[in-house]
Amino acid sequence: MSALLEVEALSVHLRQDGREAAILDRVGFSLQAGSALGIVGESGCGKSVLALSLIGLLPPAMRASGAIRLDGIDLLTLTEPALCRVRGRRVSMVFQEPTRALNPTQPIGRQVAEGMRLHLRLGRAEAEARAGRLLDRVGLPGAVVSPHSLPHRLSGGQRQRVMIAVALACDPSLLIADELSTALDMTTQAQILELLAELVAERRMGLLLITHDLGLLAQVCSHALVLYAGHTVETATIPALLAARAHPYTEGLFASGLHVGTVTPGSVLPTIPGQVPPPFSRGDGCCFASRCPRMQPDCLPAQPPLVVIGDTASAEPHRVACLHPLIAA
Ligand SMILES: Nc1ncnc2c1ncn2[C@@H]1O[C@H](COP(=O)(O)OP(=O)(O)O)[C@@H](O)[C@H]1O
Ligand SMILES: [Mg+2]
Repeated sequence: MSALLEVEALSVHLRQDGREAAILDRVGFSLQAGSALGIVGESGCGKSVLALSLIGLLPPAMRASGAIRLDGIDLLTLTEPALCRVRGRRVSMVFQEPTRALNPTQPIGRQVAEGMRLHLRLGRAEAEARAGRLLDRVGLPGAVVSPHSLPHRLSGGQRQRVMIAVALACDPSLLIADELSTALDMTTQAQILELLAELVAERRMGLLLITHDLGLLAQVCSHALVLYAGHTVETATIPALLAARAHPYTEGLFASGLHVGTVTPGSVLPTIPGQVPPPFSRGDGCCFASRCPRMQPDCLPAQPPLVVIGDTASAEPHRVACLHPLIAA
């Protein structure tokens, strides 16, 4: 079965003051229809840049290379008008800050209907009727929240649901959710994630869930890709990752309590010292070497390749980019 989305050796370079730096370095993964992949990493690792490159909305100073095939068509080769037809129609994105992404002066029903009118060429009445049904589906039935409400009348969780309805308006085959629940309490986050998981199954959609929280990802996704300073450092199924982390960075994320269920309120969390190096301060060696508790001299010459550990014949291999992984090769 060919994948819904195939990302191959995707690199993004930033040009600034005549210099160039890699923000993403040859990232690759594939996603099947009806499944969810989590992209996890701390702030500054390149998660949003990855999302933006998938919908062709990189800032002007950035350039993408490699391939991003959606249903076999490489989005990097499309012209802007062709990309416009894909964006919102076949690929949709729920942005990081829902409060800013909604238009404060327009009723929510009309905002959901807008994409249907534009891409599906529906008349106003039909689009608004469909929008009403979609709002109902995302947990905002008219009896609770009128489609005529303005966004400021809604709670943060309700606004997030409106954003999801806006993103789903044209029945996209791929949904990208970038840090979608940072401002919400845990219960609301869990409900929104449950809704997303239902929608993925129901609509046979592909979902890319971008987060810095391994626990959130585990609630919805079947697989994870751990991104550090623009490099894929580990990929695995969620059960494999929950059982054992191979890369010291993933283990650091895990141990930092960035996963639900193991954090005792008030407890002191082990953290990874240091921070993600900015794009122009990244050396040639392993991207994590400067913060790694397992660093050895052989880590310094080059970024290690991503290799399979454990069962190499597995259909869903566990891969790591580390010369001294926590799991024996
Ligand atoms: N518009 C931009 N101009 C210059 N650098 C940027 C821009 N957007 C992001 N970056 C840099 O790209 C890197 C990755 O950023 P981002 O994808 O936003 O990280 P994440 O979403 O994982 O927190 C960071 O070092 C960030 O400073
Ligand atoms: Mg981000």
